[in-house]
Amino acid sequence: MTPGAAGPPRVLLLAYDLRSPGTEELAHAVLNVLSPTERERVLRKRLAADRTRSLIGRWLARRAAARIVGSPWTTLSTGQRPGGQPYVVGRPQLSLSIAHGGRYALAAAALEARVGVDTEQVARVTRLPDHAFLGPGERAALRAVPRGEERRAALWVLKEAAAKLTGQGLRAGLRNIGFECPGTRFPLAARTPYAAAEFRAFRLPGGYVAAVGSSAGEPPREPVFVTPFRETALNTGRTDRFHE
Ligand SMILES: CC(C)(COP(=O)(O)OP(=O)(O)OC[C@H]1O[C@@H](n2cnc3c(N)ncnc32)[C@H](O)[C@@H]1OP(=O)(O)O)[C@@H](O)C(=O)NCCC(=O)NCCS
Repeated sequence: MTPGAAGPPRVLLLAYDLRSPGTEELAHAVLNVLSPTERERVLRKRLAADRTRSLIGRWLARRAAARIVGSPWTTLSTGQRPGGQPYVVGRPQLSLSIAHGGRYALAAAALEARVGVDTEQVARVTRLPDHAFLGPGERAALRAVPRGEERRAALWVLKEAAAKLTGQGLRAGLRNIGFECPGTRFPLAARTPYAAAEFRAFRLPGGYVAAVGSSAGEPPREPVFVTPFRETALNTGRTDRFHE
């Protein structure tokens, strides 16, 4: 993405490889700028690795929102609704979604639209039984797909992204969120009667999948990978310094 080339995006999806050099330092810096409530919420996580991913997720969310509104990320603060959904304090026109799992943290921000994101390692979803998240129609459709593990994992992240978009989370019951993905190639375009939104599922390097949904405007065609220093579009490889 070239900053300023086509104006600010309406929906932006950022991704971060948690193995990037400088991750711990970045997480520490983010902890220092959180509100006391947010800090306390992150510090409640028992494992240091979970605290780090949670901090990086918040950083990505602020960066994505900041890019959309054209302010430095340090001027925005995030909070969490009682159900866990993140938001930008004092900016009701923005919506946020955060996911972190295994190697990646992701966050999406959108202007005048609701967003949801999720990511998961394909192998972890392969170990889950069908009844944990698939409806009968989805099981039948998957039986027709040879080597369908990635597509099956894509359904998992699509459902979680939808549950985050509405803010219901797992209370929605993932089996109740039925998805149709008519195409065969990634990124998969997808829809569900559960949420009035368009969704896309992507492959991420190293055997992961991710999904993003947006209730208005097109969901991003690809995540933008960021490090503490730069951002790189996943598929085009275009790189820019990440301007404040
Ligand atoms: C939202 C939820 C699906 C996240 O799933 P997960 O795979 O554990 O975690 P992910 O990394 O994908 O996402 C975590 C992020 O989702 C966001 N999130 C949490 N609850 C959310 C909700 N209800 N809606 C939208 N986003 C939510 C938070 O930003 C969280 O990041 P944080 O832990 O750093 O604060 C799940 O935690 C959930 O449903 N929580 C709500 C509580 C609930 O329903 N519990 C009943 C369990 S049966």
